Amino acid sequence: MKVDTLSIHPTFECNQSCEICYMRKYKKADNFTLGEWLTLPKIASGFGVNQIACGGGEITLNPSFVRDFAKECKKNGVICNITTNGKPLKDYTDSALKMMFTDVTMVSISFNEFLIRSLDDIKEYKEIVKRVNKYAKTGVNLLLNASMIDNPKILLTTLEELFKMGAERIFLLHPKPSNLDITKIKDYIYAATIKWEHFYVDNSINQVIKHNSYKGWKHKCHFCKEFLSLTGRYLKGCSFQTGHIAKLNALEDLPKIVEGLKINGYDHCPAISGDKF
Ligand SMILES: C[S@@+](CC[C@H](N)C(=O)[O-])C[C@H]1O[C@@H](n2cnc3c(N)ncnc32)[C@H](O)[C@@H]1O
Ligand code: SF4
Repeated sequence: MKVDTLSIHPTFECNQSCEICYMRKYKKADNFTLGEWLTLPKIASGFGVNQIACGGGEITLNPSFVRDFAKECKKNGVICNITTNGKPLKDYTDSALKMMFTDVTMVSISFNEFLIRSLDDIKEYKEIVKRVNKYAKTGVNLLLNASMIDNPKILLTTLEELFKMGAERIFLLHPKPSNLDITKIKDYIYAATIKWEHFYVDNSINQVIKHNSYKGWKHKCHFCKEFLSLTGRYLKGCSFQTGHIAKLNALEDLPKIVEGLKINGYDHCPAISGDKF
């Protein structure tokens, strides 16, 4: 199997406790050490990975790890993107941000109802985007919510304002599990795609919109196709898989396991419907 993107969760530690977060169930003992994670870029480049998306937990709680991991990625020709809730960044100096992000291609800062609860949070978010923009491309992970479905102008205005703030790319995420019906706002999502070149949607939104349905997809999703996820020691077909494909003893075992994987994909998203998979 050819892996384009490897999404990793090298820490389960977080400074927030978003009710929706799929990472809340993991235990520290099921993870590698940060030192072991630093060996991954070389291993991943060896089996053709193009980009590593580094999330968590909250990875910016370990600034020197971000710096060293991004450096390793660069050395091995792998794109390094990170996702952060942005909150720890306000306490770092500009030189600390520079040190952390110099070799990171894109820093995606999450924007959602669990992290942004007040006007002060919006002000703080704006300031962080401005500061991070000096050292790396800044993206936004925007989580859909019920008010955006009921009133799609909220979605369009949010996108407009986030791009104005300086976001280079916005990535719209479908909450999982969820009973939202995004087919209702399909035309607005198309309009946003036409209006903003760097507006993207996650694989599940893409599938639902493309098939105009939450099930019976003719073209299967990216699960275990061009995409894989590593949550600590657990190898998964996507980050939302409740089970796992394999539990790794060592990161060096990854290439062999990946080589033997059969292309898979689902015709619906078990994570949206809350199924075990
Ligand atoms: C698990 S977080 C880790 C990185 C960082 N702590 C953050 O919040 O950005 C990565 C991304 O997953 C999103 N996320 C978390 N739980 C989710 C869920 N149940 N459904 C959809 N997206 C989710 C977050 O909003 C965030 O953009
Ligand atoms: S900030 Fe990120 S990792 Fe932390 S609880 Fe929220 S979504 Fe999960």
